[in-house]
Amino acid sequence: KRPPASILFIFGGSGDLNYRKLTPALYNLFLDEWMPDRFAIVGIGRTEYSSEKYRAHLQEGIEKFSRRKADENGHYQAFFEHVNYLQLDAGDIASYQRIAEYVQQKETEWGVHPNVIFYLAVAPQLVPSIAQELGTLNLCKDKHATRIVIEKPFGHDLESAHELNALLTGLFAEEQIFRIDHYLGKETVQNILALRFANALFEPVWNRHYIDHIQITAAESVGLEGRGGYYEHSGALRDMVQNHILQLLCMVAMEAPVSFDANEIRNKKVDVLNAIRPIRREDVHEYAVRGQYGSGWMKGKQVTGYREEKGVSTQSNTDTYAAVKFFIDNWRWQGVPFYVRTGKLMHQKSTHVTIQFKEAPTYAFPSEAAESWRSNRLTISIQPEMDIRIRFQAKRPGQTMTLDPVNMTFNYEGSDDHTPEAYETLLLDVMEGDATLFMRADQVESAWKVIMPILETWEARIPQDFPNYVPDSWGPEDADALIARDGHSWINLPPE
Ligand code: BG6
Repeated sequence: KRPPASILFIFGGSGDLNYRKLTPALYNLFLDEWMPDRFAIVGIGRTEYSSEKYRAHLQEGIEKFSRRKADENGHYQAFFEHVNYLQLDAGDIASYQRIAEYVQQKETEWGVHPNVIFYLAVAPQLVPSIAQELGTLNLCKDKHATRIVIEKPFGHDLESAHELNALLTGLFAEEQIFRIDHYLGKETVQNILALRFANALFEPVWNRHYIDHIQITAAESVGLEGRGGYYEHSGALRDMVQNHILQLLCMVAMEAPVSFDANEIRNKKVDVLNAIRPIRREDVHEYAVRGQYGSGWMKGKQVTGYREEKGVSTQSNTDTYAAVKFFIDNWRWQGVPFYVRTGKLMHQKSTHVTIQFKEAPTYAFPSEAAESWRSNRLTISIQPEMDIRIRFQAKRPGQTMTLDPVNMTFNYEGSDDHTPEAYETLLLDVMEGDATLFMRADQVESAWKVIMPILETWEARIPQDFPNYVPDSWGPEDADALIARDGHSWINLPPE
């Protein structure tokens, strides 16, 4: 069922996010017949554009970034009939009335009151003032039809996130605020819930009695991609761990929800965040490792070190790699370490979650049989591979009882063409008013609380060894030591 009539106003309409992600996602939703029967997309920006020029610009974005590239049967034209541009100075109060007028005009034309969505795809410092001006519009008082979408970063630390929440919740009801974490829109991430709770097989062993430890890796082979100005004030812990990785951890560790109601799911996730054992500042070095890449080679190409990147200080202490060991102090997870890590310019792009089970008792088998014994392991590959692999022991065919670890793999059917991108799922949810995959105010703040001791300790102590890893590697040696101290090692890639 398609969502109800909607108008999407995209602040930052001439910006990069809209060009690369939002418009291509909306176009794919259009092709898949998920867009409402009546809809309008209005890009808002300061740059001057005629609607024709604006459409041509976005069409280029679709051609470059959409999973479906072809102008299938003249669909571009049909799609772009819904797209317009509004040049507006976000700092000028009077111009916001033009938004209200536009909505009024569409309402008259369509004969229904549409959903109105304000998507703030703008630099974080612009969010408060835009939200404030929008808050004065009468149509924002409609809790059911008007929504505001906020992109990351959501705050710079706990205090600023709290302030931003206070500002937004003063202007909008919580159910109107959609805080994006695009990882939650990924198919493979959503499938974690299906795997865990739609099967009888896994849940009984999904706890400290059977699981030895869990690893979450989000390795990126790309570097800064021209975002030095932003990244220099963020770093890997803020950019990836506070949001995406902690959300993955919540999906893996949460208790079973009783329904798929947005608040029910989010309550269960917040419970996980609140159960994460606080890391004492004096212990941070035992639990967290940071890294920064120097210059080197990446797949045969020379790459500059982080400190030589544009927008970055030559003395920079910003982390481009972070690894942390967490414990979740509840009945299910007591004593089970969760090792998480992320980094730029890693040897290979790979995001995956590994559930390492405890060893089975091997005494019944002849000792030779136990030689190649490996405990069970479940790997959930998020990207670029999209699959689930289970490693188990099997008897090697022959007259002796020899065992080998083997893998059973589930691969998502179909090609990329059929798998919606995260932004497609999330934009559709916004139009439908379903906030399940979005961050609630308390979730964001709980996640900040988890990483604050590490952030503060790192900021107070200048790293002595930066840069401490080379491009095309798996990060600094200290990260290997972090996990080796517990008798484990990082699982870099899903098993073949
Ligand atoms: C963004 C970060 O939130 O996620 C980027 O700001 C990072 O630095 C990106 O590259 C990773 O997203 P994905 O979907 O490519 O894994």
